Amino acid sequence: METLEVILQDCHSVIREAGALLMNHFDRPLNIRFKGQFNMVTEADLASERFIIDALRQLTPEIPVMSEEEAESGGGVERDNCWMWVVDPLDGTTNFAHGFPHFCISIALTHAGIPELGLIYHPFTQELWSAQRGRGVTLNDHPCHVSVSQTLEISILATGFPYRVRELEQNNLSEFCAFRLRSQGLRRTGAAALDLAYVASGRLDGFWERWLKPWDIAAGWLIVLEAGGSVTDFDGSEMRIGLPRIIASNGLIHGEMIAVLTHPWPRLPSEYLDAL
Ligand code: IPD
Ligand code: CA
Ligand code: CA
Repeated sequence: METLEVILQDCHSVIREAGALLMNHFDRPLNIRFKGQFNMVTEADLASERFIIDALRQLTPEIPVMSEEEAESGGGVERDNCWMWVVDPLDGTTNFAHGFPHFCISIALTHAGIPELGLIYHPFTQELWSAQRGRGVTLNDHPCHVSVSQTLEISILATGFPYRVRELEQNNLSEFCAFRLRSQGLRRTGAAALDLAYVASGRLDGFWERWLKPWDIAAGWLIVLEAGGSVTDFDGSEMRIGLPRIIASNGLIHGEMIAVLTHPWPRLPSEYLDAL
């Protein structure tokens, strides 16, 4: 195996090429199949996935690839290996299918479940976040850092909802209301990996979501940590690959976010209102 530095550099061209491929399909008629009532897979997801898997297999033939569409159709990781690629070939499929230019590709290289390399590419803006554990993160070759907002009150946050929002009891709606009442602003952008990249760049102060998959989280998890932020489960315990819940923040508002997620009152407590 090449060194991680060399692999990361090689991945820059892989992810940029996959992004160009997505742009060739963007805002054009698409073949779409539904995996669930609202969960789509387009020909662009599949083309990007095929390209990335082939490129990664050429780069590191010994490392298995877990990628969303293959994994969800029962294929994918055939060998147990400490090293694994974790790929979302198109994060933000609903945006993409509607011609809404906010989507990305997410690629992580994990070792024993810990991300060692993380890349997120936004083809529309041509922004590439690239991180190696312990070596920081860059956005288009410039170091990037989380924000310095000290409190939730002055923070802008993002979240997302599961496709099965109508069926699941824990569908994030009460948490959404609770954070809306306690923050400066709240966004639902439709691409979880990009939300994480935005936390790493200080464009968002925090992000939380439940029911996410490893490919939504793996690269962004490392990118936020390397930008100086915090990433945990909802109760503040350690993040693990396969955990469906995540809080990612600039670190400064992490405790407040944990408190809200522990008691997500949809309304503000009266003593809080009295103090306003
Ligand atoms: C989805 C997006 C969305 C999040 C969903 C994800 P997909 O991924 O990241 O923001 O709220 O939970 O499933 O399906 O577009 O790759
Ligand atoms: Ca995704
Ligand atoms: Ca996807």
